[in-house]
Amino acid sequence: MQQPPALGTLLAFWKPSSPPALGLVAFSEKILLVTLDKKRLKVGVLFGGRSGEHEVSLASAASVIRGLDPDKYEAVPIGITKEGHWLVGSSAQKLLPEVLRTGQRVTMTADPTDAALMRLDGSGGGQRLDVVFPVMHGTFGEDGTIQGLLDLAGLPFVGAGVLGSAIAMDKDVAKRLLQAAKIPVVPWIAVLRADWERNPNDIQQAIEKKFEYPVFVKPAALGSSVGMTKVHTREELAPALNLAAEFAMKILVERAVVAREIEVSVLGNHDPKASIPGEIVPHREFYDYAAKYLEEGTQLLIPAKLKPAQLK
Ligand SMILES: Nc1ncnc2c1ncn2[C@@H]1O[C@H](COP(=O)(O)OP(=O)(O)OP(=O)(O)O)[C@@H](O)[C@H]1O
Ligand SMILES: [Mg+2]
Repeated sequence: MQQPPALGTLLAFWKPSSPPALGLVAFSEKILLVTLDKKRLKVGVLFGGRSGEHEVSLASAASVIRGLDPDKYEAVPIGITKEGHWLVGSSAQKLLPEVLRTGQRVTMTADPTDAALMRLDGSGGGQRLDVVFPVMHGTFGEDGTIQGLLDLAGLPFVGAGVLGSAIAMDKDVAKRLLQAAKIPVVPWIAVLRADWERNPNDIQQAIEKKFEYPVFVKPAALGSSVGMTKVHTREELAPALNLAAEFAMKILVERAVVAREIEVSVLGNHDPKASIPGEIVPHREFYDYAAKYLEEGTQLLIPAKLKPAQLK
């Protein structure tokens, strides 16, 4: 990627005797622009997208933009419609849905030497970004695909890379790897949609051989509790598998555990740091879509009440 010169490099040329403003003008116009732009990092906030979690992404993007210090960052909201059109518009966070309706069509080129976003109106204009913050959930957002495009475009981005994203998106693959690393996971069976459609009786038998009800049935590659059912009886099993099958080619069936739900974020690569744990206390039977996004009532306790040993 073409990196703009770091401010430090520019300052190294600085002649202390000359007044600062003139010192900058002495550089070529291009470098001057880069320097001024550098004051605020241009953060492309990608939101929306083609997944079942499109709406959730709007709320997440609004809170990310709210959290960006305007002195340091210029947010460039980039909305992706449910059809997959990329649109840019005003940076006002309350206008996020407006970006999706009336924004200007752009695309991201995979050529790392080009401007990052190219307008599709024939003007050939582009918009440079310093970094991209993908705030998309689910397919085509969290699963490594966008991350691959950004890698090709040579644009740094926030969050996990291609491999980590793809692994974490597939709950079956993620659990296998966690198990291999000796991290305990809730027992599960992965069911291929094709097998369920071909041999429903065999699948039901295999599930009932391994688990007692209740079980959780969920699409392997989705989040936000979309397509998920807590199955209490045999009668509820087939509708639950059919629902999950609408969203994914692979379905997870898990033992229902009775447990507290503690969530922890981890940031960093070689020197990862864990956040303070939080506890989710849903007001519904489990932390389903309604409890997450539609209804008030779920308690989010930060920090979670844990003993020091548990915290560690
Ligand atoms: N095996 C289980 N036992 C008990 N509760 C479960 C189980 N699986 C899911 N749940 C409940 O459903 C909620 C959502 O499940 P899960 O976290 O697996 O999916 P998701 O939130 O849709 O996906 P992701 O966390 O990857 O976005 C959990 O927070 C929990 O309340
Ligand atoms: Mg979850």
